Amino acid sequence: MRYTGLIENYKDRLPVDDSTRLISLGEGNTPLIRLENIPATLGKDVDIYVKYEGLNPTGSFKDRGMTMAVTKAVESGSKAIICASTGNTSASAAAYAARAGIKAFVLIPEGKIALGKLAQAMIHGAVIIQIKGNFDDGMRLVKEVADHAPVSIVNSINPFRLQGQKTASFEIIEELGGAPDYHCLPVGNAGNISAHWMGYKEYFDDGTANTKPIMVGYQAAGAAPFVKGKMVDEPETIATAIRIGHPQSWDLAHTVEQESNGWFDSLTDEEILAAQKLLTEQEGVFCEPASATSLAGAMRDIKSGKIPEGSKIVCTLTGHGLKDPDTAIAQCSDEMININPVMDEVRDAILNNM
Ligand code: F0G
Repeated sequence: MRYTGLIENYKDRLPVDDSTRLISLGEGNTPLIRLENIPATLGKDVDIYVKYEGLNPTGSFKDRGMTMAVTKAVESGSKAIICASTGNTSASAAAYAARAGIKAFVLIPEGKIALGKLAQAMIHGAVIIQIKGNFDDGMRLVKEVADHAPVSIVNSINPFRLQGQKTASFEIIEELGGAPDYHCLPVGNAGNISAHWMGYKEYFDDGTANTKPIMVGYQAAGAAPFVKGKMVDEPETIATAIRIGHPQSWDLAHTVEQESNGWFDSLTDEEILAAQKLLTEQEGVFCEPASATSLAGAMRDIKSGKIPEGSKIVCTLTGHGLKDPDTAIAQCSDEMININPVMDEVRDAILNNM
């Protein structure tokens, strides 16, 4: 049967009925790829899978939440949606608004969103409002303006977003035949880790899965409120997607930590970029920097034994590497070989680099 998106696939578990007009681009059903080369380099016997959410229609996990949020906004008669974004939410909102035939307004931090994401928001026809401030400023403004203008907020404070995003856990359980032992995610607002936990609990409570995973959230060191135990006013990291100091799902995420027996930790920008490169070079999987935070953290905790041998681990790769071409190229620009257009020089370039 033709796959037509996650709402159709899980309509018994989502707040829709037969009369709901579904706004879908075929999101969900993303690959769960078993890492074949990286585990051996860790010197530990572990089974690592990456859930490649970058293969959603707009290149990030946001589409899972956006299909639900926009479907419900349209159902309630809304003609416009609004979000603050570090980039991916704006790209997704812009695409789903285009699909629905409604307007998208997106607030983005000036100069701090990756090129691919900006291109997406622009080409889909969103109204782009750049603010001289960061994501947290944008979020504050969105919440304020929603009381003064006819717009539906589609950030993850919209509960329909988390409903859509919980389906990633359903897919993982179905594919693995049960929950993993550990599930590692990059954390910004902490909506996604909270949504995943909802999904795992739902399948556990109705007996579809016998266990629940330990949830582990990794942040960038310069934007790590959950690790510091308090809000961060000037968040900074190369992983612009998670450049967030005042997470919206603060309480939900702490509940996830307690209920799942999990933890939060942080990674430096160097560790994040190294994991991104390792994954591309060793496994052929290209994710954006923020996404690599999950793998960087898992590798560190596997090496230290905090995640024990014999574990089955899922790392969510939240966004595609093509979202941020600048950071990818900057990491590799020294490796380019420049030659004259003659065969000898091409041959030497090959033989010197075998
Ligand atoms: N990874 C990527 C690629 C993201 O874009 C985000 C969030 C996260 C991880 C963190 O997810 O906020 O649910 O903890 N991006 C939002 C945006 C903030 O505006 O695109 P979270």
